[in-house]
Order: sequence, then C-alpha cells, then structure tokens
Amino acid sequence: MGFLTWISDLFGKLADSGRQSPPLLIDRTVTAPSRAPSPAQGGATPRPRDPAVEARIVQQRIHRGFAAALPVEDRFGLSGRTMEIDRLVRAMLSERKHVVVYGARGSGKTSLIRVFGELADEVGQVVLYESISGAIDFSDIFRPFLSALPGADRDTPVGRAVAGLRDRTFTARDLAGALVEVRTATVLVIDEFDRVEDARVKEEVAALMKLLSDMHARLTICVVGIATSVTDLVAGHPSLRRHMAGVAVGPIAQDELVTLIENCTRKSGLTIEPDVAALLAQGAYGSPYHARLFGLNAALAANRRGSNRIEPGDVDAGFATALTDWAEVSGQAYGLFNHLLRDPAARAPLLQIAEAATLTVVDGGTGPVVPQPVVDALSPALQQAAPGRYVFQDSLAPQFLAIMAANGARANRFVGQ
Ligand SMILES: Nc1ncnc2c1ncn2[C@@H]1O[C@H](COP(=O)(O)OP(=O)(O)OP(=O)(O)O)[C@@H](O)[C@H]1O
Ligand SMILES: [Mg+2]
Repeated sequence: MGFLTWISDLFGKLADSGRQSPPLLIDRTVTAPSRAPSPAQGGATPRPRDPAVEARIVQQRIHRGFAAALPVEDRFGLSGRTMEIDRLVRAMLSERKHVVVYGARGSGKTSLIRVFGELADEVGQVVLYESISGAIDFSDIFRPFLSALPGADRDTPVGRAVAGLRDRTFTARDLAGALVEVRTATVLVIDEFDRVEDARVKEEVAALMKLLSDMHARLTICVVGIATSVTDLVAGHPSLRRHMAGVAVGPIAQDELVTLIENCTRKSGLTIEPDVAALLAQGAYGSPYHARLFGLNAALAANRRGSNRIEPGDVDAGFATALTDWAEVSGQAYGLFNHLLRDPAARAPLLQIAEAATLTVVDGGTGPVVPQPVVDALSPALQQAAPGRYVFQDSLAPQFLAIMAANGARANRFVGQ
C-alpha cells in the first residue's frame, strides 16, 4: 500500500475515533459516569459492571497504552529520534541519496520510517512502502511498487514503461529504465530487507541504486533492515557509497525512555513515579521495544494487585514475566545463559557482554573485552564481530541476559526452575 494512502487511512481512523470518544482511554472512563443522569435526575440506577468485564477493559487499556508490538503511528508517539529524522530528511529530500536504515531488532526502524513518510508526504514527496516477506527475488521485491508509481495508472511514459514489466521477471537495468521516467520526487521504502538472503538479489538492488543515481533519476531507494545488511549491500559496490547515506537506529537516551514509559503509563490510566520509570528504562538498555514490553508487564502486575500505581515490586514482576515469555520462544539462548550463570564468576562478564551488545552494536564501537572462554561458551547465541564487539543471534536477547545476570540466582526463580 502507498504511504500516502496508508497515512490518510490512518488519519481518517484517528479522526473518526477522536469524534466518537476522547483520545485517551483514561478520559473516557473518567467522564462516562458523570454524563449518565443520576437516579435523582430521573435516570435508572447504573448497574454495577461485572468485575471480570471491568478487569478485561482495564487490561485492554494497558495493552493499548503500551502498544509493545506495534510500530509508532505518528510523530507524537516517537521519542528521541530528532537526529535520525533530520538525517533522513537531509539525505532523502535534500541530497536525493539512497538510504540504508539499520539497527537491532525492535530498535524502532519501522517507526522511524513511518514518521519520516508522514513528514515527507506533507512536503509533496511521494513515499511508497513495502515490507518483504518470505523468500523473494528481485522482481518480486519491486513488482508491488509498479502500479503505485506516480503516473503509472495513465498513458504516460512511466505508465507505458511499467506496463512492459508487469508480467515478467526483470533486471536492475530494465527497472531503472522504467523508474527514470518517474517525474515526481519519489522514495521506495523496502522494509525487512534482511529477509533477503540471496547475495545476487542484494547485488541487483545495489546495481539498481547505482544506475538510478547515474541516470539522475527523481526516484531513490530506502532499505530498512538489521545491522548486517548495510555492510553486505555496500560491500560489492564501493562507488555506491557516494550516493548513499546510512541512518543508524541506535539506543534511545535513558531520559527519553523514562518519558516514553511515563506517557504509556498515563495512556493506560495508571501512574508511576519517575524513579520507578527509571528502573524500567534501565532494564531496556536504550531499546524502546523493551521499555514498552517491561512497562506493559509491570502495569499488568500492578493491575493484578488491584492498584493503579506501578511500584518497584511491579517492575520486578514485569521483568520476570517478560523473561518467562521470552524464554518460551528462545529456549536455546535462555538455556545457555542460565547454564553459564550457575557460575557466579560469569555474571560480571555476561553483564558486560549484554551492555556492549545493546549500546555499541549500531555505531560500530567496541565495549569491554570479555574473556574468550565466556564468549565461546555463548556460541551459537552470540557472535564476536571483533574483540569487544558482540552480536546476539536474537537481537532481543541481550536485555534478557542482563536481567538474568543482574538478578543472578533470582533469575532461576523467575522461570520456575
Ligand atoms: N522512537 C520511539 N519512541 C517510542 N516508541 C518506539 C520508538 N521506536 C520504536 N518504538 C516502539 O518499539 C517497538 C518496536 O518498534 P519498531 O517495530 O518500529 O522496531 P523495528 O526496529 O522496526 O523492529 P523489527 O526489527 O522487529 O522490524 C514498537 O512497540 C514501537 O512502538
Ligand atoms: Mg520493523
């Protein structure tokens, strides 16, 4: 679906929901009873709600407030990404470069690109978005964009060029010949690019970028993926570097994460003190996904206690539930971490690895060098890109390792062992 359609769809939905109810769910619960006429005013006595239904409503409100699994939908939901948005705007709108947006899983790449799309749309730039799924070849990646290109639906040079590609496989050169006919400034965003495993497909995408730049096309490409895909892409095409910009989606500053958690808590109808929000933010190590996930689980723990205030004990319970859920889907890594943590001497180096992986993986920096036997013992869950530079196979894992290492023996209790 085109970004323009997607954004107007989204705004339509937001406007509709805004008309029917106040934007914050907390407002709805607060204001609803006061609107109902009291028995003294002739209204019927309000029937008390079923507690089970009430509890479900509150839980839904908490899930919506923290929205841990969904990309941010508009600029108001985006924390701490001013520099990244500036870089994207400069590279794509001013310098007309191709861009690689890269970062760990859950770091906020899709959120960033969606908000960029919204901003670009406002200045008349066409941004078309597709997310890759499954094994896919070069033509499959670009075919969905063809009919959405500006002018493709009419008898125009681009319309005729695109018609010639629709029902066949095509090469980078064929496609560049058609895309150069696009007269409106356009960006094609390809999300989840790391799903492309075939080196020849990556090579074709790089060749397409180079051809478009050499032809002074009005259309540029933005690929979005986890860290390793950038190096892969540029490796075979050193001259492509001149036409490309990389935008790293790194960790978010601690104070921005605290604000994010406070906002999510408020939307959920709960309260939290800044120092308690800071505990959750610390465990997230710069990751907005983990901040929302831990916050969600802490809020649900508070709710189970019948309280609408998140306390330090709820934070602990939130970490524990999130860890248990993660262990269920990432059993191998969990098993390895747990095994190593039986040796108390391993705790400090494991914590260092977790910190190095979360805080330096994107900018290419290095962290403390950890004894080799500890690194080896974490294989295959961990790869050492260079001494002091550690990359987890599951990029969501380091925060859970940190929780386990920080809690030591308590980690065992978390998962009922
Ligand atoms: N800047 C941000 N401010 C607030 N929340 C954010 C931000 N970036 C991401 N999030 C939240 O973090 C979670 C993951 O975000 P998103 O899906 O954009 O990450 P991603 O890097 O695209 O993940 P993946 O690698 O799985 O595709 C979502 O819940 C999203 O709402
Ligand atoms: Mg994504």
